[in-house]
Amino acid sequence: MPAITEHIGLVYHSDALKKRAALLMDRFDIPRCPATPESGFYLELNEYGLALCQAGPHMPGPVRIDFVGGTMGHRQRFGAGRGQPLARAVGMKPGFNPDIWDATAGLGRDGFVLASLGCHVTLCERSPILAALLHDALLRAADDSSIGAWVGDRLRLVNADSGRQLQSLAEAQRPQVIYMDPMYPAGKVHVEVKKDMRALQQIVGPDLDSGELLDIALRAALRRVVIKRPKRAGFLHDRKPDTSIESKKTRYDIYVTL
Ligand SMILES: C[S@@+](CC[C@H](N)C(=O)[O-])C[C@H]1O[C@@H](n2cnc3c(N)ncnc32)[C@H](O)[C@@H]1O
Repeated sequence: MPAITEHIGLVYHSDALKKRAALLMDRFDIPRCPATPESGFYLELNEYGLALCQAGPHMPGPVRIDFVGGTMGHRQRFGAGRGQPLARAVGMKPGFNPDIWDATAGLGRDGFVLASLGCHVTLCERSPILAALLHDALLRAADDSSIGAWVGDRLRLVNADSGRQLQSLAEAQRPQVIYMDPMYPAGKVHVEVKKDMRALQQIVGPDLDSGELLDIALRAALRRVVIKRPKRAGFLHDRKPDTSIESKKTRYDIYVTL
């Protein structure tokens, strides 16, 4: 499915949100929508935060990133901890938390889990819409009394193309681990696509350049590159990893660069 190329605007209905909306529009170059549109995607800022909405009959509800409550908050409080496949894939060990460049941040779920387990994570996302949602979610999380301190310390957002950023890093800035979860072309694998992922697929489309990103990542990572794939999918760019770790629906392909 091709990406939506129309410009997605931001709508807000309360003067109290004017300053926050202006900061978001300015930072992520998002135009203002004077009124709720009648069709298509738009961003809405209200007292609960920023959400990606779809106007029209029978459309799914808003997509909002919430690191404090909801599934993410639950996963952080009661999740499988450092033994889970994601943590093992990036090489977490007792007393060792690698610093990670999440090259395809998306809705920030994997990056957030890794940070909650102790890693310093750079969330790099090239879509300004996704980056604005992440930025707003990080601000809300940083304000939370239970997770705010480590969120502020361990998570950082970059709105840019990871390939370009990784190529311009100085030697001392190279991350130990680069994590990639590129958008899989829709329809190739039968997975139950949830509302938020469906919206994401429509906004950004398939990541057709992920093979090039892998080449760049392999040169930039000090220890390893980890690629998340649907369990039955082939290797990215037919490039055989050094090893893989599997969970129920997912496979993490690990390319050692040490
Ligand atoms: C499948 S989603 C990632 C989901 C994410 N792992 C999560 O836990 O929410 C892929 C995301 O990577 C972003 N992306 C793909 N290639 C990128 C690149 N070269 N630089 C930055 N972001 C990229 C896409 O815009 C999309 O939002």
